Amino acid sequence: MQRKNIILCGFMGCGKTTVGKELASRIFYDFVDMDERIEFVTGMSIPEIFAERGEEGFRELETKVLAELCRGEGQVLATGGGALMRERNVQLAQQSGTIVFVNSEFHLCYDRIKNSDRPIVQRCTRDELEELYNQRLPVYRNICNIEVFNQHTPKDAAKAIIHSLL
Ligand code: S3P
Repeated sequence: MQRKNIILCGFMGCGKTTVGKELASRIFYDFVDMDERIEFVTGMSIPEIFAERGEEGFRELETKVLAELCRGEGQVLATGGGALMRERNVQLAQQSGTIVFVNSEFHLCYDRIKNSDRPIVQRCTRDELEELYNQRLPVYRNICNIEVFNQHTPKDAAKAIIHSLL
């Protein structure tokens, strides 16, 4: 039986990683965080990649790593918040499995990311991040197969995903 991948998308801080780990362990899938994979492959941190290669360089790496991961199966993939803004990446994700949008309100995302070293957070004000959130929300919604709200616990969100998959 083919074990199609489950690709999680959503804004920075929405909880893709925590929900993804919870989901993967419940359905006996492997959990892969794309940013971590990019850091492992390059031996550089995300801020270093942005500083040395620019955002465009980071986006190229994202596509390469996603393409490689999409060849596998039985994985829960947590994508970076900007990864599925690229048409090519959406195609790769759609071909490889089910896309799940992990939705969380902006203020919750913001509280989780405001003190982080994410390059986009470093260079944007709160209002700019909220604008980016509002631009991306309809995209996530449009490309996903399933939308879940991460408003209680990661466990609840994972259970809601499993419920929608069955
Ligand atoms: C980004 C989100 C980050 C990371 C990079 C860019 C974005 O991942 O890929 O800093 O453009 O939204 P998370 O969504 O896991 O924080």
